[in-house]
Amino acid sequence: PPISRMLSIRDLEGVARKVLSFKALSYYASAGDDEVTATQNERAYSRFFFAPRVLRKISTVDLTTKILGYDSPLPIFVSAAALAKLGHPLGEINIVRGTGRTGIIQMVSTNASCSITEMSEAKLHLNQVQFFQLYKNRDTSIAEALIRKVESLGYKAIFLTVDAPVAGNRERDIRVPFAEEDENRAEAEGESGTTGERPRRSGAEEEEEEEEGSNEVGGTAGALLKNDDLNITWEETIPWLRRITKLPIVLKGIQSVADAVLAADAGVDGILISNHGGRQLDYSMPTIEVLYRLRQQRPDCFDKMEVFVDGGIRRGTDVLKALCLGAKAVGMGRPFLYAQSAYGEAGVVKLIRIMERELLTGMRLLGATKYSELKPEMVERVDFEAR
Ligand code: FNR
Repeated sequence: PPISRMLSIRDLEGVARKVLSFKALSYYASAGDDEVTATQNERAYSRFFFAPRVLRKISTVDLTTKILGYDSPLPIFVSAAALAKLGHPLGEINIVRGTGRTGIIQMVSTNASCSITEMSEAKLHLNQVQFFQLYKNRDTSIAEALIRKVESLGYKAIFLTVDAPVAGNRERDIRVPFAEEDENRAEAEGESGTTGERPRRSGAEEEEEEEEGSNEVGGTAGALLKNDDLNITWEETIPWLRRITKLPIVLKGIQSVADAVLAADAGVDGILISNHGGRQLDYSMPTIEVLYRLRQQRPDCFDKMEVFVDGGIRRGTDVLKALCLGAKAVGMGRPFLYAQSAYGEAGVVKLIRIMERELLTGMRLLGATKYSELKPEMVERVDFEAR
């Protein structure tokens, strides 16, 4: 269908589901075990209802914000998602260009299918902001070299992923081994855009021999994570990272109030409340529920660091609920992969325009003209699920 018919994020996902190869869809959509957390990340938003305010002047609404000090036209950024080339020949470059055209910040993955140099060089203008998501290699000297490279390429923050010391058990993905990829490719329609590229590490890293203590889970995720450090810790990894870089540090994958408090105590610049889109531990609490609990139990954390959330965000109202509960901005993962798979760079721009329109309408109907007017009292958690 023409892109003009795309009205919602789900419309874009619907097109992607038709054009993606079986393998690509299995990797993108997969999640841990029974995929309960992945589903509930989305559905949990339907337990939060608004108390909108009326009779307020809402003609002018400011949708802009700052993320780690960088201007953003919307309180939304791209959460790192690996292997965009599985869905479209240009892969992550679509996201670099689409975000460049709209001013949205992209967090690029350690496991992107384009190199960090390519993604940096594809920026449309000099002040385009990109963040880097780090999977720490168990060889610390490789990890350090990668961070040096990331700094020299102008990435503005490090999002250290802390929820994936090993890959989650993603059966949908594990059932489609790499070897079957070529067969599926032959069957796939020409317009699917599948490149069939094998996962590879970005930058200068090379695949290493398997060693003791490496990750053993199969599937694409297992292959991608096999050189990563199983033993990243509060005591060692955070001070190490602080020592070697001056870039802002955000912990990606905080899933409990207790760890949010530890993060604030550790003095990091931010946390991204995330369960990896439900791809790691199944039955990890839906992220909006973690944010809600953090707001209730430890409101002080929001003064000490920026709090972000990702997982299941598909509507402008989802974003506004997170902002009411204290999030500074939200990340979106799969929606960007699907949008670029369906329509390339134009799909990325479309996704952002859809979210912009939904945010504008949502703000006006909430009676708010700037984000500082969004308060926890404006959302109520009910004990039923509405859909
Ligand atoms: C991811 N995610 C992820 N996270 C990360 O830190 N490094 C990575 O390389 C990847 N790769 C990745 C691939 C795919 C296919 C998906 C779907 C997700 C997790 C991602 O950053 C984010 O936390 C979730 O995608 C957010 O949930 P939604 O928006 O997909 O519901």
